[in-house]
Amino acid sequence: MHDLVRIKIADTEYPVHPLFASRWSPRAYDPRPVESDKLQRIFEAARWAASASNLQPWYFLVGMKGDEVYNNIFSTLVEFNQLWVGNAPLLAVSIAKTTNTRGEPNVYHAYDLGQAMAMLSIQSTHEGVYVHQMGGFNATEAERLLGIPEGYKVMTAFTLGYLGNEEGLHPNLQKLELSPRNRRPVGESVFTGSFGQKAFFL
Ligand SMILES: Cc1cc2nc3c(=O)[nH]c(=O)nc-3n(C[C@H](O)[C@H](O)[C@H](O)COP(=O)(O)O)c2cc1C
Repeated sequence: MHDLVRIKIADTEYPVHPLFASRWSPRAYDPRPVESDKLQRIFEAARWAASASNLQPWYFLVGMKGDEVYNNIFSTLVEFNQLWVGNAPLLAVSIAKTTNTRGEPNVYHAYDLGQAMAMLSIQSTHEGVYVHQMGGFNATEAERLLGIPEGYKVMTAFTLGYLGNEEGLHPNLQKLELSPRNRRPVGESVFTGSFGQKAFFL
């Protein structure tokens, strides 16, 4: 097994499906493109997320290394992200439609786009490829450069691709890449009785 893969497997308190334990956000990518049939399945998974009133507010604009969409998204990234993103074969933005069919605000637009991203990420893990989402970019500038229509909001940028070798990363990033993932305990997020009281079933 790739060393990075072993280090990053979640040390779970309770057993879960291996796809959840093995999803993580890499910065070391192999430039090899992801096959179209895998991309079809990955975006198909996003399509079947739940959403308020089945509005499906999620949209994706996908750039491939060397094309204009990729270059435009790349130019909006903060310097830290520009240090590692360039090796990824795919760079995309997630976009939410912010209104419903009557033109009123859909308060769940970000929530539902996030659900679609989670489904996309898990299907990617199943396909042997990895997603890394980013907030570190200028979304307003991305909307302008990419010609995103009124009523739609760029929420995140993300990379997708096969794992590469961490030795190719900027030295400051290698340590991050090799450190285990951690989370607060389930009991600090899941309550019964009252907010803050660890659930009885844990
Ligand atoms: C909305 C969002 C924004 C993020 N922004 C960045 C970012 O700008 N740069 C970065 O390197 N990672 C970014 N991340 C990745 C998180 O740091 C990462 O998911 C978190 O540390 C947990 O690690 P894991 O995904 O490997 O479990 C972002 C993740 C999300 C969901």
